[in-house]
Amino acid sequence: MTYIFAHRGSSKDCPENTMAAFKKAFEDGADGIELDVQLTKDGVPVIIHDEKIDRTTNQKGYIADYTYEELLNIDAGSWFSKAFQNEHIPSLEMLLQWIAPLPLLLNVELKNNEIEYDGLEEKTLDLLHRYGMEKRTVLSSFNHYSLIKIRKLNPYIETAPLYSDGLLDPWEYVKVVSSQSAHPYYKTLHPYIMEGFKRNNIPLRPYTVNQKKWMQYFFKWGAQAIITDYPLIARSVLHGDPS
Ligand code: G3P
Ligand code: MG
Repeated sequence: MTYIFAHRGSSKDCPENTMAAFKKAFEDGADGIELDVQLTKDGVPVIIHDEKIDRTTNQKGYIADYTYEELLNIDAGSWFSKAFQNEHIPSLEMLLQWIAPLPLLLNVELKNNEIEYDGLEEKTLDLLHRYGMEKRTVLSSFNHYSLIKIRKLNPYIETAPLYSDGLLDPWEYVKVVSSQSAHPYYKTLHPYIMEGFKRNNIPLRPYTVNQKKWMQYFFKWGAQAIITDYPLIARSVLHGDPS
């Protein structure tokens, strides 16, 4: 059975990458949560997609120029709807405190392809270890040097390269970057590519699968998971709702 990962939480119903979005994903019956992590000026791993806070908060500037304490006062919900004005940029630790007792899988995407945050890998691994989350977390990144660094720091934790273009034999590339699974852009996954991953026993979790016909395609192919903004719809498609 294919797992459903909520992309930045249930991000069509709630402001992305906030605790409200993660809680909604759990209510929606998602099996796992995908989120993006970057570092503040004082080195705290926080959950946000863009390198700048402009789009998803009421302030401006790079996340790397704010201390964690400064971020605590910033509204990360009103841009989406007034009802979420009390949402803030969560720290990774806050998320881990919430998720650790719940039966949820986790995909932490290290958002370090534009800014290479010094120590992001070490800090993330340390937190996952402290909250006992290593066995149900996959770490992904568009920065594949970072995946190799993670492997050197921790021989066991699952990693997956994110990629958006057609690679030649991507199942071989997964091994080159010391990973166990792949998180490709869903449109790169032609049937012959799906075959190759299957033949090589490499689990796939395509992103971002929002249309029912693509959900069906990946369920049929037995992708290990899909990453979607619509976990509730994905669940109904998975359980046979044809509408
Ligand atoms: O991890 C899957 C997906 O989140 C990658 O793209 O830009 O939404 O972080 P992005
Ligand atoms: Mg992401």
